[in-house]
Amino acid sequence: MPRIFIFVGLILLLCLLLPPAIIARVRSTPNSNLPIHIIQDMAFQSKYKTQAVNPMFADGNTMRPPVINAVARGETYLDAHLYDGVIDGQWANVLPSQVKMDFATLRRGQERFDIYCSVCHGISGGGNGIVNQRAMELVANTNGPVNGTVWVQAKNLVHDELVTVQPMGQLFNTITYGIRNMAGYGSQIPTEDRWAIAAYVKALQRSQNAQPSDVPAGTKVADNIGSTPNTISISNAANNVTPTPMNVSVSNPATSMSEGKL
Ligand code: HEC
Repeated sequence: MPRIFIFVGLILLLCLLLPPAIIARVRSTPNSNLPIHIIQDMAFQSKYKTQAVNPMFADGNTMRPPVINAVARGETYLDAHLYDGVIDGQWANVLPSQVKMDFATLRRGQERFDIYCSVCHGISGGGNGIVNQRAMELVANTNGPVNGTVWVQAKNLVHDELVTVQPMGQLFNTITYGIRNMAGYGSQIPTEDRWAIAAYVKALQRSQNAQPSDVPAGTKVADNIGSTPNTISISNAANNVTPTPMNVSVSNPATSMSEGKL
């Protein structure tokens, strides 16, 4: 046998090692490309992907808006009291029937207020939360507002007459849809929680403008100083204490509050 055959034969044998070598390499190396798909089934079909241009529609959008006047299941917002804070065209003074006025609701409102509102309006609603402080600092910079910061002072919710006279429904509406420079929280805070916050803002206002007459005669309010920021309990209401706004509040708003009469 001529040597050339042996030589070529060896080369061919070596070539046989190539496919397993390639497979081993491919299998051991991460690769972001799609794997080779030999049997297609229905994995690849002609279709329009989200946000792709679609010549079938006049506006060229593949994603279609809902049909006008279509209402998704569970999304009929017809209850004006519950969803807008309005009864017969007037701001509601009471909670809607779906939300109960009790201590649990106020507690929930306090917790949600502290999470969502206190950053700007302050824990006690005085309008000087940490974001507000920082923004005012940036605006007051001697060389002009830092990075062109523009800021409107967050409202004092407990002493600004513009706010304290507002019925609960109006507060609810502001929380839901926002007002002027304040964004709405309707998409972030569920409806019931927004009512709880509105009720809590009323409780904050009342607690910081409390009168001795708010404490039922002969009631000794529990000493739980420190449980809520900015709360000082009146230990002996019978002593005719004259509360000063901002630093004296009734520690348990529920004790001086009757159903729905915020
Ligand atoms: C990012 C800061 C910020 C947050 C968070 C915020 N607010 Fe405000 N809020 C403002 C500012 C600023 C104004 C004043 C807007 C203006 O006058 O243009 C305002 C105004 C208000 C007013 C006054 C409305 C009126 O009729 O003038 C109410 C009530 C109020 N906020 C309640 C809330 C409640 C309740 C929350 C929590 C759900 C909240 N805000 C969260 C910044 C904020």
